[in-house]
Parts: sequence; structure tokens; C-alpha cells
Amino acid sequence: MDQMPVQPACAIDRIQSDTDIWLEKELNMSKTRKAAIIGIGHVGAHVASALATQGFVDDILLLDQDEDKVISEVQDLNDAMLWMPHTVRIHGGDFEDLKDVDVIINCVGNISTLQVKNDRTLELRFNLEAVDSYASQIVQSGFDGVIINISNPCDVITRHLAMKTGLPKGRVFGTGTGLDSSRLISAISKKTGLNLKSIDACMMGEHGNLQFAPASVFSFRGAPLESVVPDLELDWKQLEKEAIDGGWVTFSRKHCTEYGIAATAARMTQAVLEDEQIVLPASAPLEGEYGVRGLFAGVPCVIGANGAEQVIELPLTEDELDRMQMCCTGIAKNIEKAAEIEAGLA
Ligand code: 2OP
Repeated sequence: MDQMPVQPACAIDRIQSDTDIWLEKELNMSKTRKAAIIGIGHVGAHVASALATQGFVDDILLLDQDEDKVISEVQDLNDAMLWMPHTVRIHGGDFEDLKDVDVIINCVGNISTLQVKNDRTLELRFNLEAVDSYASQIVQSGFDGVIINISNPCDVITRHLAMKTGLPKGRVFGTGTGLDSSRLISAISKKTGLNLKSIDACMMGEHGNLQFAPASVFSFRGAPLESVVPDLELDWKQLEKEAIDGGWVTFSRKHCTEYGIAATAARMTQAVLEDEQIVLPASAPLEGEYGVRGLFAGVPCVIGANGAEQVIELPLTEDELDRMQMCCTGIAKNIEKAAEIEAGLA
């Protein structure tokens, strides 16, 4: 048999590196994309359903202290699996199972406090204590992915989770004003007839009653909205109010909100798993942006494999910057309240 020509070392290296690249791609393509949901109440169960239905995760772990709730949701979701577009493994488990999970969605909450009045800060004590009860178990599991927090008051609990888990900056972020932005764009679309997907708008500041609509930067794919619908009077105060009140319209009648928040969390989970580098409004850490430091607030940010990777500073007007400051003052007050609760002083 003819002698194989001796390949120079560099060629062999190249062949190996090509093989490595191929193998890396194959492994990444076949990597099981894993999500975990902590807190399987109304919101957590709907997040699980949204993730399972949309098919960008392969494995969903449900965690809740109420084992019967987990068993019932696993059974119910698996009962739907035959008719879903994708086969997804859905199961219960423990915090130790978080080690190789890519994204955790934190959904704990106490709906009864929210029903007292339309004030998300009423869940502060319950959710602080819940996070304190398991944050160390997340760390001990070896989890090294991204946490998306939904639990209210979202901006404060997101910061608390980030501090308690010690994950790198941005790897813990919150749905924040992402949900509120969906409500605003829906209100603008209903008013103008414009397609939701082409309206560039967002709510900013607090996922709470202080949030605001920075209308000066809104557009319809670059064209000022007013110029696209010249015959319409756009009342931004009214549209902002519809976004703020949207949650309570639902909550006051069915005593929870589910689909909007679940779809928001699912969209953000997809952006992380697919490293989309897409700009979405979320609760992200501010370190000088908008003149604010040391807290999480609702801002447009680049979402990718490392979570909230960059905060986008919009050219806000003086009035809008004042509104942002008001939100952050409110968030800072709730952070102080959280510290008092943690110290047993409140
Ligand atoms: C919502 O805005 C209650 O924060 C929840 O739907």
C-alpha cells in the first residue's frame, strides 16, 4: 500500500482545529437547553407552559416547596406534550439539580398581599424571606447561568437575588418594565391600528406605579409616531396610564396576571439561550447610566447569553429624566425598607 504522504505539522494542526470547530458546533447544537422555574404558582405555571409551547428549551425543572403543586403541574404539562410542536422534558426536582441549568426564572410570590391593593411593594417581605430561604442553595448547586426575576417588587427583589447569589453583573436581571412595555405598545397599537411589532416604545423606571413612557424617543421604525398617524391626537398621558393600569385591569377581575408576564419571561429566556444580543426593556443594574447608581431599574438593555449585558441610555428629555429620578428614588426607598426587614427593624 502506498505510503500516506507525511502531512506537515501545521496541516495536521489545521485538520485538528477544523475537527474541533465541527465538534464544538455539534456539541453546542446538541446541548440540552435547560430552564428551571422557582415558584409554581399562577405565574410559574404559565412560564412553564410558555417555554414548553415555544420550543426553545429542551428541559424544564419545576421547583416549589409545595410538592403536590409540582406533581400536578408536571402531570398537566406532560398531558399536553403529544399535541405540542416540540417534545420537552418537564420534571420536578431539587435545588441540587440546578447545576447544569442555563436559565432560572424566579416566580415566587404571595398573591393574597397583592389583592389588598394595587401595590406590588406589598409582596416585599414575603419575597425577601423566600429568596433568603433558597439563594444559598442556588449557589451551592454550582449554578452558573442566568437568573430572570419576576417576583415583586421586581426591581428590588432582582437586586436582592443578584447580591445573594453573587453572580457576575447582568447575569441576574428582571422582567421589570418589559411587561409594562408590552401593555404600552398594545395600547398604542389599539389606538393607532399600527402593527405592534413595528412600534418602538417602552415603559421605563419602576415595575410599579411610578413607571413612565418616554414618548420623546418613540417611533414607528424610525418615523415619529405622530407623523405616521397625523389625523390622530396621541394622548401620551392616557396611553401611559393604560400601561400602568393594565396589570390591575386583569388582576382586579381574575385576581392574578399570567399570560403577559409569562410571555415576557419566555421571550427574555429565548434571548439568553440564543444569545440574541437584542434590546429589550428589563430590570437591569445601573452604574451611572441615567445618573443613577447602585440599584436595578427598568431600562432598555442588550439581552444575550450573559443576561443584561449592556444598558442603553436613551436621549431622554429633562422631564423624562426627572421621571426616571422619581422612579429610582422610589426604588431606593424600597431597598431601604428591605434592609430594615432584613435587619428585623420592620
Ligand atoms: C403585573 O404587572 C402583578 O407585577 C404583576 O402583572
